[in-house]
Amino acid sequence: PLTPLRDGLGRAITDLRLSVTDRCNYRCVYCRTGESGALYSELSMELYLRMVRLFVSMGVEKIRFTGGEPLMRRGLTDLIAEVSKLRMARDPEERLDLALTTNGHMLAPMAKDLRAAGLNRLTVSMDAVEPDVFARITRVQDGFQKVRDGIRAAQDAGFERIKVNCVLMRGFNDDQIEGFAEFARTEDVIVRFIEFMPLEEADDNPESSRKWSPDTVVTHDEILARLEKLYSVQPLAPNHLSETARRYIFADNRSEIGIIAPVSRPFCGHCSRIRLTSDGKLRTCLFSQIDHDLAGKLMRGMEDEAARVWIREVVEKKEARHHIGEAGFLKPGRAMVHIGG
Ligand code: GTP
Ligand code: 5AD
Ligand code: SF4
Repeated sequence: PLTPLRDGLGRAITDLRLSVTDRCNYRCVYCRTGESGALYSELSMELYLRMVRLFVSMGVEKIRFTGGEPLMRRGLTDLIAEVSKLRMARDPEERLDLALTTNGHMLAPMAKDLRAAGLNRLTVSMDAVEPDVFARITRVQDGFQKVRDGIRAAQDAGFERIKVNCVLMRGFNDDQIEGFAEFARTEDVIVRFIEFMPLEEADDNPESSRKWSPDTVVTHDEILARLEKLYSVQPLAPNHLSETARRYIFADNRSEIGIIAPVSRPFCGHCSRIRLTSDGKLRTCLFSQIDHDLAGKLMRGMEDEAARVWIREVVEKKEARHHIGEAGFLKPGRAMVHIGG
């Protein structure tokens, strides 16, 4: 097997998150506060593929396609099929796990083709289970039905058990927790609650109630206590060391719940992730203040071998952790929609 790419703290970097567009058909209130700031920037599929190949040759074994909304990017299925071919070129001992994070709106008609292209896993972002709350958050009217149909189509297409990610914001959608637990059970999906992080787009309206502050965070312990009032749940061992979610299984074995707690229980110590933005910038942390222009270097003629040396140098300096909530904390220069989930 390949020697994994490592950062200066010895963490193996095995997980690449590639954003293929920063366009999105939703306007979730906590993500896009204003209508402005939309600066679409995408690269050719050839260039994404070349970058993926580079990282796979350096030991990356999991690729998650993100956006924006990745299903809005034309040619995505073909890109996944090309990336999937890299599996064949690998040692049978090495895995290549292909996953995608989507809002699910366009999923129903695409699910079969995505599966056939070699995608293994799907995560659907969904911040409410009540259709009217869903519409209020996403500012899209018919979204809820579309997304639920998308999940069902994906189940029929034979994906591993689908994950549904829900970012919780106090006073806004934290009343959805119990409904989501029921949804996990009836729809046979893994619902994962996520603590809200300060990653929203810069806002021109200082009165905005969707701004992050420590008390907008519904913490891991609080979520668990709410669930335990209704259900008996047991903790499950993590699937792997760098897993973001704490896992819990219902006592009757019907489905699983996850809690992703980057704020109250940071998981930076075992971080295995790097990100490529849709414009080809390498980011070594979600909260990094720096963008490293990999695509720019490749477009200006840098060869693969030189690129690998450069990537090693950049990754070497990966941030130790985030500093959410500490004095002097700086938001990254880009919002989540421009970084990729
Ligand atoms: P699995 O491979 O299925 O475990 O998925 P994942 O947890 O890697 O990815 P997913 O896209 O489902 O991530 C879920 C959420 O966790 C994201 O939307 C972020 O809110 C948060 N998250 C993921 N990676 C990081 C990270 O590196 N740092 C921080 N602070 N949060 C992260
Ligand atoms: N905090 C936590 N998660 C976030 N996401 C977007 N913004 C935030 C935030 N501020 C999540 C979305 C989706 C993924 C792409 O990122 O809900 O699951
Ligand atoms: Fe990794 Fe940075 Fe996320 Fe921490 S905040 S888990 S170091 S990407």
